[in-house]
Amino acid sequence: MPRLFTYKDFDSGSEKVKQYADKHTPVIICERETTRNTPFNVKVRIGTNVKHPNAPDHHYEYIQLWNLETLVGEIRLQRSSYGEKPLFIETEFTLIPKVSLRLEAIAYCNRHGLWISEEVFVKVKD
Ligand SMILES: [Fe+2]
Repeated sequence: MPRLFTYKDFDSGSEKVKQYADKHTPVIICERETTRNTPFNVKVRIGTNVKHPNAPDHHYEYIQLWNLETLVGEIRLQRSSYGEKPLFIETEFTLIPKVSLRLEAIAYCNRHGLWISEEVFVKVKD
């Protein structure tokens, strides 16, 4: 089983270590409440304050969105489509929820492995 890194794994590190964790950590951005059977947008962004490199030997390859143990969305990244400069990668998924959600995002850097977001609970109402 591969290791999943979180920002918390590096919380007690130096400022440089915290920047390393920041630029790798996926963040889920969405409302915390929505309506059943209605399209619901979930944005995932890699990094909060620090941009991740986008070089031929160091880049993100995919972002997944999970609801508990179910994969609900995935994008594959073509590095060349983002140019060569560091950047905040963002993507958006649209779900049509039937029940409340416990979302987590996982993203894969080809040099630094798998990174997981904080869990986000979304209450789904009628
Ligand atoms: Fe990386």
